[in-house]
This record gives sequence, structure tokens and C-alpha cells, in this order.
Amino acid sequence: MTNSTVKKLFEKMTIEEKIGQLLQLSADFFQGNSAVITGPMSEHHLSLKTLYQAGSVLGVSGAKRVRAIQSDYLAHSRLKIPMLFMADVVHGYQTIFPIPLALTASFDPSVMKNASEVAASEAAAGGVHVTFAPMVDLVRDPRWGRVMESSGEDPFLSSVMAQAAVKGFQGEKPLANEHIAACVKHFAAYGAPEAGREYNTVDLSEWRFREQYLPAYAKAIEAQVLLVMTSFNTLFGVPATANQYLMRDILRKELHFNGVLISDWDAIGELITHGVAGDLKQAASLALKAGVDIDMMSFAYAHYLKKATDVDSNTKKLIDESVMRILELKDVLGLFDDPYRGISEEREAIAIKTHKNLASAQHAAEQAMVLLKNKNHILPLKQQQRLAVVGPAANTGEILGSWSWQGDSSTTESYISALRRHFLNVSYAQGCGFHQINLQEVQTAMKIARNSDVIVAFMGLPQSDSGEATSMTNLCLPKEQLTLLARLSELNKPMVIVVNTGRPLVLTDVDAESDAMLISWFPGSRGAEALANILDGTVEPSGKLPMTFPRKLGQIPVYYNAYSTGRPIQGDSSDNENKYLSKYIDESNEPLYPFGFGLTYADLIVTDLRLNQKTITPNKSIHVMAVVKNRSDRDGLAVVQCYIHQKVGQTVRPIKQLIDFIKVIIPANSTKTVEFNLTSDKLVSVHSDLAKHIDVGEYIVMVGLDSEKVLKDTIFVKQNIGELYNDQIKK
Ligand code: NOJ
Repeated sequence: MTNSTVKKLFEKMTIEEKIGQLLQLSADFFQGNSAVITGPMSEHHLSLKTLYQAGSVLGVSGAKRVRAIQSDYLAHSRLKIPMLFMADVVHGYQTIFPIPLALTASFDPSVMKNASEVAASEAAAGGVHVTFAPMVDLVRDPRWGRVMESSGEDPFLSSVMAQAAVKGFQGEKPLANEHIAACVKHFAAYGAPEAGREYNTVDLSEWRFREQYLPAYAKAIEAQVLLVMTSFNTLFGVPATANQYLMRDILRKELHFNGVLISDWDAIGELITHGVAGDLKQAASLALKAGVDIDMMSFAYAHYLKKATDVDSNTKKLIDESVMRILELKDVLGLFDDPYRGISEEREAIAIKTHKNLASAQHAAEQAMVLLKNKNHILPLKQQQRLAVVGPAANTGEILGSWSWQGDSSTTESYISALRRHFLNVSYAQGCGFHQINLQEVQTAMKIARNSDVIVAFMGLPQSDSGEATSMTNLCLPKEQLTLLARLSELNKPMVIVVNTGRPLVLTDVDAESDAMLISWFPGSRGAEALANILDGTVEPSGKLPMTFPRKLGQIPVYYNAYSTGRPIQGDSSDNENKYLSKYIDESNEPLYPFGFGLTYADLIVTDLRLNQKTITPNKSIHVMAVVKNRSDRDGLAVVQCYIHQKVGQTVRPIKQLIDFIKVIIPANSTKTVEFNLTSDKLVSVHSDLAKHIDVGEYIVMVGLDSEKVLKDTIFVKQNIGELYNDQIKK
């Protein structure tokens, strides 16, 4: 459709039809293949007429069902405006990829992009038009369960992954039938709830918000994401869904977002419990004024906007703007040309869970797993070694992770099943459940362990313990699992511990018991095969931590890119001689494992850091070069990371801040030079006037294979470039 045809359609709409476009209903309203009002749904007092005017539905999928609902809907719709089908397709539709935190651990944006592409192609075949992803909320507190959906603690890494995900889901505009619209969420700062407690207050200075939390959303918008979802939390004292400053000034004016803004589930209704609206009518008005286009399941717009329009022309204008944005979205998706976007049961059968898609999911899982410890090179294991496999995560298909509603864990291969294919001598005893233990099971596990060469323990959390509404106050492994590990360690056998988790855990005790420790995350449909490939050495481990793993719970939030303090510790923080430093008296400041950390089997080091020039000039970037050496007989996969620290800034600066990274193969016994292009925009910081600037002065450039062990050099920004940049952004 042309713009003017959309406009013409819009002009024919009644006020009820317009308000209908702003209403999003859940799947329960469409039982069978058409809209019905029964049971609990009648409590919302919607008429069938209103139902057949609703602009979108969430959580319905499947070609047959979507086709039937859409055609029933169109048969009842006066202007035949197709309905939008939205759903949470987060890390796969039926082919499930590793959880987003794990995809980020690949440190390879092409892995994130491909996962999103595959998810889009399957979901599109299943009739989904819009996914509520990617979630790009920056998280530094692993007590918060939704960290599994995020890209972790670093603004740059999150931004790169946000952009890759949007491009993967959407492809190019207008969207081809294999792509779906993405919805970046949750705007904004949902990942910083106080004490890591779900749905709790968020309170950040605007300076910090702009420096660290805003960049990933901004990158998604720059990548032309078509929708944004509001967050449940408050920011600057006002719930996001009613926050005009956040939505109108920052999102629309500053970031130039002109797509559809949708509320989170009943977030408009929650303005009442937040205490900023007295009733649903006021809530509707606040949300509309903030620019929220679609009301997901609070019914505030459906019930109260009509009456408001009788009195208020401004409300009418706001409704019109929202409706136009929604119609434009439908148009970009091609729904006016084909309300079904080419779906059929035949296409669905061919598109979903293909060999190729599953292979992609396996590749992603292989790139995502992080090897934290490998004492005496116990890994990779040898095929003929006798393995005693234990632990609650060994024999289950529940390794898909939260937000995999179309995934099928009952047909997902378990780790033990894959290990039996890869190794000749495997015995298995569970030993304990995730949260249960009994003596007999422990004894059976001890028995098989006694007769083994290596114990491989699959520990961690059940998948239901990560995701929405799973905040936790204890991040150690459950005590039952620690008991089993303690008993097994009495046998003095080499022990490999594989940790299934959707969040950083406090693994200090586990680390002490283990010879090798591998974080498998929730690795998805082909996670078991990926893990077996890493354990037997077919595949090189190459994932890196996208979040710091704490040594003790009380260190949280602990993240690598903290700001300089007035009393930093020098050297070992457990040295108690100088009391008045920024440290603890009962624990060191150091985490157990830092951001960016992950071992490889190949023996890799970074040497010879070189810069082609020391000063950034207006037209010339600095080439930062380093040599990666592989001193082993295995091909290696290196993630080379480039950080900076600004020595003197107008505001305090992070002690280290990732500005670039690259994942490269380094063939056995060879070297490779990697190069980063350090452009001036990498040195931008937010000043106390809340604008972005480049400070003149000295910066330390660091390159390494994690955020701790780095080579350093110094560069300078001269007066002219700072002024040039500052002038440019003022324009
Ligand atoms: C609530 C969650 O916060 C959001 O991320 C999700 O997209 C919606 N529910 C819809 O399922």
C-alpha cells in the first residue's frame, strides 16, 4: 500500500475503530478459531464488536490457527484491517537457541544475528508478525532472574548484540515474509531493580542512565527496530508507562523513534498500584499522553478513551497519531497486501526445525559455553576414559531455558544421551535432584564414581529458576548439590563440573571442588550435542563471560567497568593494612571470574601491542594492533578485547571500558595480527550537562583475552578533536 492509501483507510475509520487498533488481547479471547467472550474473559466487559475491532493479539501461533482467526476476524471487520499477531519469540521459535545471555557469551554478533534470523523465519511461518524481543536491559545484579534474557553488564557488548538481533529479526524494510518486526524492551532500565527484586523500583541518576543503560536501546532504534515496549518500573520517579520525559523527550525526540510503542502486560493498569493514577481512566490518559500506542491487556484504552474524546480534542489527536503508527506497521509487514503473509501448513512444515536451523542452534551453543577452569588440562576428555556422570541436569531435556514456549523439552536430547554417543564408557547415577537428596542416591553415585576415571557432574538450576519473576537471594548452588559434590570429592577423582544456569552464580565452593568447570547456560535444542563436542575436544571452547561471576553474594553488584573511586585499592584487596580504602573487611574486591573471561584448549596469548600513532587527529583514527600467538598444536578461537580508560575526565570514568572485540581463529602453532580501528566516537562520554562530549587528554588503551590481563599503551586526544566532535553533536 502507498502512504496515501493507508491515509485514506485511516480517514474512513470511526473513533471506535481507531481505539480498537490500540487494544491488544491475549490468546484466551480467541478460543478455537474465532473471538469469543466466555469465562474469565467476560470480566473485562468487552463486546464482541469491540473484540472484532482489536488491532492485535498476543501469544497465538500456528499457521492453521492464525489463518482461521485472521479470516474470521476479517469477515467481521468493516474496513478489513488485518490483525497483528505478536508473541515472545526470544531465543528461537521451535528450534531453540541458547538463552540470550549465552548468545552474548559467544562474543560473536553473527551468532546473535543468525539466531534471530532463524527464530524469525520459523515464527513467521507459524503466523507471528511481531516478536517481543530483543530485551536489551543492562543488568549488573544476577539476583534478578531476567538477566538470562539480557546481554549482561556491558553497554558496548549489549549495543552490538541489540543491533545484531534487530537486523536478524527484521532483515530489510519492507519486511520479507521470512522476517518479523522486532520490539526492543523494556524501555527503560528495567534491568536495574533495587536489590534485584523483580518489578521493584529503579532509581538511577540521569547521567548514569545515559552513560550505561540508554546506549543499547539507542542502538536498536538506530537499527530501525519497529516497536518499543515500555518497562514496568519507575525511572526518575515516574513509572515508564506514564513517563512523558522518557517516552516523548528521550525516545521520540532525541532518539527519533517513530515506530509503535506498546505497554508491557497491564502496565497501564499498574499505574494505579504504582500510585500515580487514581483509576483506570486516569491511567489511560497518562499513558496516552506519554505516547503509548498499544495497551497490552489493561483495557484502559478500550474502556475510557471514547469518553475522553467526547471532551478533549488533544486526546483525539493523540489517538490519531497512534493509529497511524499502527497502520504503518501493518503496512511495512505487508499485511494489507496479504493479511496471512503467505502462511500455510505446508510452508510451516518445511520451515520449522529444519536440519539447517538445528545445526545453527548447535553452532550457537558451541560458541556460547564458557570454560572457567581446566586444571592439568583434564579437558578435553578421552574417548576411552571411564566417565561417571552424575547430577540433576544430566538426564533431562529441560535445557531450553525460559521463554521457549514453542520448544519441546520432551524431545530435546539430554546431556547423558549425547555423552553416550561420544564416549565408550559412560555410567550414570543422578545422585541428587536440583533441590532434593537422599542417602541411597548418593551412595549409588559414589559407587559409579569409585569405578571411574573422571566424574562429570551436571549441576545448576532448573530452567524454571531463571526468567521473569525468579529473583533470588541465594546464588550458590542449592545445598543438596553442594552436599553431593562434597561427598564425591572425598574420592579424589578428577571432577568436571558443568553448570546449567541462566545467571551468574556464586560458584566459589564449587570451584574449589572441581578440576574443570564449564558454564553450559541453557543451551537450547542442540545443547547436549554441543556440550559433548566440547568435552571430547571436537570443538574448541570459546565463550566468554558477558557478566562478572561474584566470589560472594555481598559483592553484588560487582561488574568490571566500575568507576574510579577516591580511595581505590592498589594490588591485593585482601591486604588489610590500609583500612580506609574502598574494600570489604571480610572479602576481597575481586570477583571469582571477571567479565570477558573464558579459557580455550589451545594455548593463546596476546603480545606486541602496537599503535600506528599516539594521537587521534580529526580525520585519522588510531590503528590498535596486537599479535595473538597460539603456542599449541590445536587450532584456537580467540576473543580479543580492546578496552580504554580515560585518565582525567569531566566526570569520573570507568576503570576499564570495552570499546571493541573480535573473534578470530588462530591456527595451531601460528600467530595472527588483529587490528582495531579506534575512532574518536569510541571515546565519547556523558558529561554532567547530560550531553555527549570527548574530553581532551590521556587515555590508556588495553588489549587482552579477558578484562583483567591486558597489555597497555597510552593515546592522546588533542584539543581540536574534542571541539570538532562537540560542535558536530550540537548541530
Ligand atoms: C511481560 C514481560 O515483561 C514482557 O517481556 C513480555 O513480552 C510480555 N509479558 C508479553 O508476554
